[in-house]
Amino acid sequence: MTSTLLTGLSELWTLDPALDDPGRPGDIAEGQVLRDAALVIEDGVIAWTGPAAAAPSADRAEDLGGRAVLPGWVDSHSHLIFDGDRAAEFEARMAGQPYAAGGIGVTTEATRAASEERLRDLTRARIAEARRGGTTCLETKTGYGLSVEEELRGARLASALVAEGELDEATFLGAHLVPHEYTGRAEEYVDLVTGPMLAAVAPHVRWIDVFCEEGAFDPEQSERVLCAGAEAGLGLRVHGHQLGRSGGVALAVELGAASVDHLNHLDAADLEQLAASDTVATVLPACDLSTRAPLAPARELLDAGARLAIASNANPGTSWTSSVSFCVTTAVLQMHLSLGEAVRAATRGGALALRREDVGHLAVGARADLHVLDAPAAIHLAYRPGMPLTHQVWRAGIRQR
Ligand code: NIG
Repeated sequence: MTSTLLTGLSELWTLDPALDDPGRPGDIAEGQVLRDAALVIEDGVIAWTGPAAAAPSADRAEDLGGRAVLPGWVDSHSHLIFDGDRAAEFEARMAGQPYAAGGIGVTTEATRAASEERLRDLTRARIAEARRGGTTCLETKTGYGLSVEEELRGARLASALVAEGELDEATFLGAHLVPHEYTGRAEEYVDLVTGPMLAAVAPHVRWIDVFCEEGAFDPEQSERVLCAGAEAGLGLRVHGHQLGRSGGVALAVELGAASVDHLNHLDAADLEQLAASDTVATVLPACDLSTRAPLAPARELLDAGARLAIASNANPGTSWTSSVSFCVTTAVLQMHLSLGEAVRAATRGGALALRREDVGHLAVGARADLHVLDAPAAIHLAYRPGMPLTHQVWRAGIRQR
């Protein structure tokens, strides 16, 4: 068992859950950010944190030179298993075309045509890119296969990457869009998703998701998908209220989903319902900007008392970036969160959305996932928007870059 001592931490954001302030659940509490700190990693987990002056010795030591250290980002929403490019669709959108769910079909065509090896290489490269940006815990979804065979191929790939420690969580999203071969037969496609497709895929994933939105699946169809998933032992996630008040919030809360994601269109009753539930409200700032949608009301969600997460939603159609740092910057500059609220939502919030306690913080016993910034204070993420501030990334005690 080798231990590593890191010194020279100008800020150490432990976000220790034991120190949470119940009066301000979405913000940083007293003692959760240490100054002039040190930490010890042992066996891939945090073994000690505290003032540099009191640091114990270890087998090896490294001086971080006065840099701020955060928990690695926990990205609870991405779609990385695909082939194809939709830059033309994006360009048309920037020229005034509205976003519609149908673009998913374009990526489905390209993904179905990709070889096994190509799909694996593309997905691996995207995970590596996310890692270089400070993401150390990553969920990804199927959803560009949309047939039993192709969804199974995506789920197997995701589960192999989880087993290799590249990915952390795999989600089945057969209910992403009704594929063209089922045009006019949406109910039959839902039968397929909830029957043979789910049976094939369930052993390879932990979660099931549904795109509950106009142009994708209505609330009744979405409920069938989620109930079948729950019956198969999967945890529930929902895409909802992206294009309108789709009913996804009520469904997610009623069925006890871990998370409902997007949330661009919420009324006061939705806010209240989320605040009174355990369902995490996940906002996706990069997607909001890339679709020119109204920004999800992150400030209002926190003020109402909802549990908030920030994720990248990296996908080829609506958010072709896995940069959680960019999302955090946007949340501060444009969604009116404090830096502490935004960092917390992209770490502890993401972990909660994935129902995980081992990541998203750096208290003793947590997985040693560190995001070392090339800055003396984390506020530089918003103060220096767009600058390459990721200096080092550690996952489970191993330095990745
Ligand atoms: O989260 N909303 C559904 N899925 C993606 C869109 C994927 C696509 O357009 O390819 C999203 O935005």
